[in-house]
Amino acid sequence: MNQRRDKGRKPQLIIAIDGPSGAGKSTLSKALATTLGYTNIDTGAMYRAVALLATRQHTALDDSVALQQLCRQMQFEFRRVADSDHVFINGEDVSDAIRTPEVSLLTSKVSACPAVREELVRVQQQMGRLGGVVLEGRDIGTVVFPQAEIKFFLSASAEERGRRRFDELRAKGIDVDLQQTIAEVEARDAADSSREHAPLRRAADAIDIDSTIMDIQQVLALMLETVRARMAQA
Ligand code: DC
Repeated sequence: MNQRRDKGRKPQLIIAIDGPSGAGKSTLSKALATTLGYTNIDTGAMYRAVALLATRQHTALDDSVALQQLCRQMQFEFRRVADSDHVFINGEDVSDAIRTPEVSLLTSKVSACPAVREELVRVQQQMGRLGGVVLEGRDIGTVVFPQAEIKFFLSASAEERGRRRFDELRAKGIDVDLQQTIAEVEARDAADSSREHAPLRRAADAIDIDSTIMDIQQVLALMLETVRARMAQA
């Protein structure tokens, strides 16, 4: 903690936001990081990048040796482009390519591979070690940074999360069906929660927030209140 707090400066905390897909983690993680002047790390984007690259290179998703090799060779980078966070792999902007429903489904499979998780967790720990970061994912508070000063577990009903994903995809011009989108959210929840390695699980010391009937500003205000109280103690 000391090395993460220079005299007179705001404490550089590690903030974890975990929870199922569509609960609002990405939006809130970005908003929280921007408000605090922290770095935002979207760990789901890293698993998505591996899935995209594996598909392009025709790597079998059950070949853990090949997947591990692919992770080691992948140059992964978050860059700010025109005020928004973009994801680059090997110098290519893949921000849109990693968000298609097809890549979402493949990512569930890739993220179940222990060798992939081992590689990406190492990179995430390296990225966040000095603090001043908000990391969002599924295993941040339990595996990546169990010592994080603040852990939020953000959830919402599957129906509400499916509806949000549907609106998001439609806004991008992707033609999807609402019931099918809800079913896909439920299928991914089941896969993410039941996998053997690092399943989606709430850390015992996480703060629960149910965003089903809360808007982004309400959740952000609640999170900021918690962070400021923690900073005052630090
Ligand atoms: O948050 P997201 O929807 O972009 O995540 C994509 C997939 O990656 C999802 O199936 C869960 C998985 N994931 C994971 O297993 N561990 C993380 N830390 C982040 C995402």
